[in-house]
Amino acid sequence: MRLSVFKTHDELSRSAAGHIIQLVIAKPNAVLCLATGNTPGLTYKHVVELAKKDQVDFSRARIISLDEWVDIPRTNPGSCYSFLHEHIFAPLEIHHEQINFFNGQAVDLIAECQQIDKKIHEVDGIDLMVLGIGMNGHIGFNEPGVSNNLKAHVAELDDATRVVGKKYFSGEVELKRGITLGISQILAAKKIIMLANGSSKSDIVKRTLEEEISNFIPASFVLNHPNSFIFLDELAAEKLSQRPSVNP
Ligand code: GLP
Repeated sequence: MRLSVFKTHDELSRSAAGHIIQLVIAKPNAVLCLATGNTPGLTYKHVVELAKKDQVDFSRARIISLDEWVDIPRTNPGSCYSFLHEHIFAPLEIHHEQINFFNGQAVDLIAECQQIDKKIHEVDGIDLMVLGIGMNGHIGFNEPGVSNNLKAHVAELDDATRVVGKKYFSGEVELKRGITLGISQILAAKKIIMLANGSSKSDIVKRTLEEEISNFIPASFVLNHPNSFIFLDELAAEKLSQRPSVNP
């Protein structure tokens, strides 16, 4: 694991965007798995800008879903699909056939999990996984206490996730369950970039980096991955016991 601290969320996001762009240039049919939420939004904005500026071709890139809220329609602007549609799929003209996304409204959620498991196998694994750290240390919807050998599964959401998750929705929603790739699939990705910004994440960042690696802090498993990068801004890094130097 390599830890980098950037002065600002914008600098962190530019760097993360550079990794995504470089991968797609080197491997146009790369398999990407992208988190949603406030953390990576700015990264995706820079990906779109760079792709347009340098004419990077995303027409062969493939997308695997990381997670989705159960029982929320894909068309709801708060859904993970909608977020990525707005920030990445539409601006980069990534077509339906390139995307394999969880349907959180599927009648048979087990079959939904199995089809994603099968797809990951068919595409020979995920090349790059972009993760955000949830306030409680979750990655995707792998909540504290999750088993680390699960594949795609339906998760009962932690109380913190139910409350924090309301920020993505304009109306009243009841968030009970999520559908998510499992820790074993996240760790099988060839490369992981995990992001955190802002002082609200400083406590969970400190716990992730300084406490024992365990399923109580699912994000801590990323530390064991041989090709993982953790990108923090200065605010997210402010409570670390040893302040790493800031990227120039
Ligand atoms: C959400 C998503 C995760 C995301 C995390 C952090 O619930 N399911 O994929 O990475 O929580 O979100 P944010 O970046 O808004 O803090």
